[in-house]
Amino acid sequence: MITDPALRQALEAALESGDLVRGTTSPNPPVGAAILSAEGELVGVGGTQPPGGPHAEVIALRAAGGRARGGTAVVTLEPCNHTGRTGPCSQALIDAGIARVFFVHPDPNDAAAGGADHLRAHGVEATRIDAHVPALRPWLAAVRLGRPHVTLKFAQTLDGFTAALDGTSRWITGEVARRRVHEDRRRRDAIVVGTGTALADNPSLTARTADGSLYPEQPRRVVIGSREIPADAAPNLHRLGFERHPEISAALAALWEAGARDVLVEGGARLASGFLAAGYVDAVQAYVAPTLLGAGHGVLAGAVGETLADAARFTLESVTRLGDDVLYEMTRKEVH
Ligand SMILES: NC(=O)c1ccc[n+]([C@@H]2O[C@H](COP(=O)([O-])OP(=O)(O)OC[C@H]3O[C@@H](n4cnc5c(N)ncnc54)[C@H](OP(=O)(O)O)[C@@H]3O)[C@@H](O)[C@H]2O)c1
Repeated sequence: MITDPALRQALEAALESGDLVRGTTSPNPPVGAAILSAEGELVGVGGTQPPGGPHAEVIALRAAGGRARGGTAVVTLEPCNHTGRTGPCSQALIDAGIARVFFVHPDPNDAAAGGADHLRAHGVEATRIDAHVPALRPWLAAVRLGRPHVTLKFAQTLDGFTAALDGTSRWITGEVARRRVHEDRRRRDAIVVGTGTALADNPSLTARTADGSLYPEQPRRVVIGSREIPADAAPNLHRLGFERHPEISAALAALWEAGARDVLVEGGARLASGFLAAGYVDAVQAYVAPTLLGAGHGVLAGAVGETLADAARFTLESVTRLGDDVLYEMTRKEVH
C-alpha cells in the first residue's frame, strides 16, 4: 500500500493513462506510466501507443525530459526488457537517469520479462507494489490462457429474460446503461455475436457516442456460426464489414492470431450457452432492468446443470447503478 502522496498521485496517473489506451494496444498490454522528478513533482504521464509505437514509459519520459533525472517512475506493468518493434523500456529508464521504479504486475511474457532485474543490475531501485489495475486484467488473463479473455455481456429483465415471447428485446435497459455499453465496446478488441443475433437484430456492433457518431476506436465485428447471413437480413453488418467463424474455438484461435486479447460476447442465448459450456466465459457483465416479463427468452439457451451444485458461479466484482438499471460485473474464480 502506497502512503506517500506524490507516489500515490503518480500511481493514480499511471492507472488512468493505462485505462485511457485500453482497446488500442493489443496484442500489447494497455500500460500506464508516470514520472516524478527528484523533487517529487509529477512531470510526465503516458500510456502505451498502438503496436509499433512507443510504450508507456517512453511517452512519460519524453514528457518529463531532463526532469526525469534522479526521479521515480511508476508503471502498471514491469518495464519490458525486450527489443521488439521498440527498444527495451528498462534501458530507456536507465538512460533517462531514473533512480527508482515502482511497478505493479511482473511481466508474464518470457520474452519481455527481466526488466526489474536489468534495472537493479544498473543501480536502479525496482520495487513491486500492490494495486488494482483493471485495465490489465483481461490482457494478463489472456496471456496466461493463450486465448483472448472473454467477457459475456447481456441485458436482462429482473426475472432473467433478454427478449419477450415475440422476440422483441429493444430496449430492455435504459439510455444510461446503453451508453455504458458503447463506452465499454470501444475498449474491447472484438465484439462477438452468433448468427441468430446477426439475422434477428441487424446489429451494427459498433461503439457509438451519444449523438450516434462512431468513436475513433472500433472493435472488430465478429459473427460465429455457419448459416448464411444475407445482405438484406443484416445490412448494417454488410455495410460495415465483419468476420465470420464457424464455431467458437476457431473464432478464439483466429482472434488470438489477429492480436485480439480482450473480447466481448454479446449473445444471443445459444452462443452464450456454447461459450459457457466450453469453459470460455472469464467475466460476465449483466445489465439488469427493473422490469418483469414473466416469460420470454432467457439469457442462456438451456440448463447449465441438473442441480444447483452444477450452477456456473462467479465472483461479484462490482455493482453499478446506471439510471434505473444495475450493472453486475463478475469474474470466474479460477481466472482472476
Ligand atoms: N438482450 C440481450 O442482451 C440480447 C443480446 C443478443 C441477442 N439477443 C436476442 O437473442 C436472439 C438470438 O439468439 P439465438 O440464441 O437465437 O442466436 P445466437 O446465440 O445469436 O446464435 C446462435 C448460433 O451461433 C452459432 N454457434 C456457433 N458455435 C456455437 C456453439 N458452440 N454453441 C451455440 N451456438 C453456436 C450457431 O450458428 P449456425 O446455426 O449458423 O451454425 C447458432 O445457431 C435474438 O432474438 C436477439 O434479439 C438479446
